[in-house]
Amino acid sequence: MSVRRPRPRWHDWVERWDRQQTAYIPHREQRFETMCDIVAALGPKDPKVLDLACGPGSISRRVLDRFPRGRSVAVDFDPVLLELGRRTLKRFGERIRWVEADLRDATWTNRLTSRRFDAVLSTTALHWLTPAELTRTYRQLRTLLRRGGVVMNGDSMAFERRMLAFRQLARDVNHTRTRAARIETNAEDWDTWWRRLRAEPTLAPLFALRDERFPKEHHTEHDLLEGFHETALKEAGFREVGVIWQDIDNRILLGIA
Ligand SMILES: C[S@@+](CC[C@H](N)C(=O)[O-])C[C@H]1O[C@@H](n2cnc3c(N)ncnc32)[C@H](O)[C@@H]1O
Repeated sequence: MSVRRPRPRWHDWVERWDRQQTAYIPHREQRFETMCDIVAALGPKDPKVLDLACGPGSISRRVLDRFPRGRSVAVDFDPVLLELGRRTLKRFGERIRWVEADLRDATWTNRLTSRRFDAVLSTTALHWLTPAELTRTYRQLRTLLRRGGVVMNGDSMAFERRMLAFRQLARDVNHTRTRAARIETNAEDWDTWWRRLRAEPTLAPLFALRDERFPKEHHTEHDLLEGFHETALKEAGFREVGVIWQDIDNRILLGIA
């Protein structure tokens, strides 16, 4: 007799994802909201957004709730997070399209069927790319945007190396806030959240694929300077580039095409 395995509680996992991420970035919701405010200020009532390295569709969910006629293309290469997104955002129907693509691969844009976005938005993600991959990605994003469209990268972007005290203060404040948030919201840390999700039996095949795509030994976070991002966006051809929102060293860098 076969034993039926319980299905994962998809929405709970995404709620726990949000709590886990928010413990690292206390103003994460404000950061999403600011991105949405800027998209609203651009004008179109039906914005077409590319959610880059979307995870479980964190940006797409907020954008599609905010703009009932908006559409999102959500790109990621993690089969587990994409599955969480697909399972929890069904209510958006055709307004969201999921694209499985590896940003480390220079041909990733071939997987997109559309190339005229109003905005490319990314959060807490592009630090996984090497400096060369990031520079190439910014150049590609420029070609995906209509004139006047925007790219916004919301991520931790380090202070200049000579600003030793700033760098130390940022580390200290971030650490203290994360510890406090974990206690207050009962948030899991990154490793615990992943370890517990991995224990869901039905996800085993997707975890096997994830391990192939992101072998641990190749997974390095690149803590690039804010100035590096800014220069790379300018060199990619964005007309105006600058920080439009900031909390300690977490920023939204905005580029206007
Ligand atoms: C910390 S998560 C952030 C997810 C989401 N943007 C959010 O804010 O909740 C980082 C995301 O980057 C994605 N990522 C990392 N490297 C990638 C790559 N080479 N190609 C596509 N996505 C990648 C991961 O799969 C993961 O979904």
